[in-house]
Amino acid sequence: MEFNINYTKHINSKIIVERDCRKLLKSLLKESNYYKISVLVDKNVKDIWLNSADDFFEINKDYQLIEVKEGEAAKSLECYSKIIKELLDFGLERDSLLIAIGGGALCDLAGFVASTFMRGIDLFLIPTTLIAQADAAIGGKNGINFVSKNIIGTFYLPKLVLIDPIFLETLSDIEFINGLGEVLKYLVIEGKELPILFKENLDRIKTRNNDVLLKVLQLSVKTKANLVEEDLEEKNKRMILNFGHTIGHAIEAVSNYNVKHGIAVAYGLIVESFIANRILNFPIEDVSFIMNLIHRLNFDFNFDYEVNELLNYVMLDKKRRKGNLLMALPRKMGEFVIEEIDEDVIKVAIDEAKRVVLNA
Ligand SMILES: NC(=O)c1ccc[n+]([C@@H]2O[C@H](COP(=O)([O-])OP(=O)(O)OC[C@H]3O[C@@H](n4cnc5c(N)ncnc54)[C@H](O)[C@@H]3O)[C@@H](O)[C@H]2O)c1
Repeated sequence: MEFNINYTKHINSKIIVERDCRKLLKSLLKESNYYKISVLVDKNVKDIWLNSADDFFEINKDYQLIEVKEGEAAKSLECYSKIIKELLDFGLERDSLLIAIGGGALCDLAGFVASTFMRGIDLFLIPTTLIAQADAAIGGKNGINFVSKNIIGTFYLPKLVLIDPIFLETLSDIEFINGLGEVLKYLVIEGKELPILFKENLDRIKTRNNDVLLKVLQLSVKTKANLVEEDLEEKNKRMILNFGHTIGHAIEAVSNYNVKHGIAVAYGLIVESFIANRILNFPIEDVSFIMNLIHRLNFDFNFDYEVNELLNYVMLDKKRRKGNLLMALPRKMGEFVIEEIDEDVIKVAIDEAKRVVLNA
């Protein structure tokens, strides 16, 4: 499946979700006019997938391979400046290409490098985690951490994103389930084919069947890309992508970031579905459907929190937004509205979710 996304009048960004993207990459590079290519690769991904970089590329182009620290450590000023220095030493030019192969952290770093090196060079992303394939590599947001997460960054679209579910075979179980947390939000946002796909293929998803994952990725990417196309700079529509995240972020913060993002979002989806049920009559059968999937996927909600502590964090967020706590919530599967939410409603939903999860 191939999408051409025209986020703005001037920029075209292609996303391809297919098996054997590496073969495609080789032919694209062979045909391209790029004379110099720099490749950033996450250290773990390099060890697992790039035994010989020449095997991977076979392109007869002048290229350098830069191994980047694995995971979140990549998103630092130190890593950023080290890479810029290596690009300069290699002689990368304004019309050269940067390729990044790795998880969401590397995609975020690479986007920032590509957007700032010589005021912007072409970028290809090859995301290798489920979070990166379904979320981080789509939509042009990038960034590095400084004091806090994603403080320095830009909106910058890659020329090409190549998504191949084969990489998911080597992900650890925790990273895979973490990615499914993000994918579950698309189920409610898309609301048609994805819920059926999950209902009918849950065991095949759990065992990482490549055919089913390919379909899951195609639908997830299409859902995000459509929203981003309408609202690149997150002024309104893109807010829908935050479903599950108000509560998810609070859980991450209250746990001192010991609970992983996707796990916290899955929990947030339960709480926010209860809120939607209370104020928008989001059908209770759909709330149960979401909870049942989360239960059967064995999300590990082995954490505890004080209801008031979580609520305080959410209300702090409200203060930062000048007194309004807005949430994008489903009225039914596939149909969202943005609503202002009262503290009492959130408290009841948190209580409700806690009771249900404890009894599951
Ligand atoms: N820009 C966005 O829109 C956006 C959206 C969501 C998340 N993010 C960012 O993405 C980051 C999280 O991404 P992530 O969850 O991919 O984490 P990550 O990039 O840290 O990768 C997680 C781990 O998986 C390893 N790994 C990567 N691919 C692998 C593979 N195929 N096989 C085995 N191991 C592999 C990595 O080495 C790392 O240890 C965060 O920094 C978050 O802020 C950005």
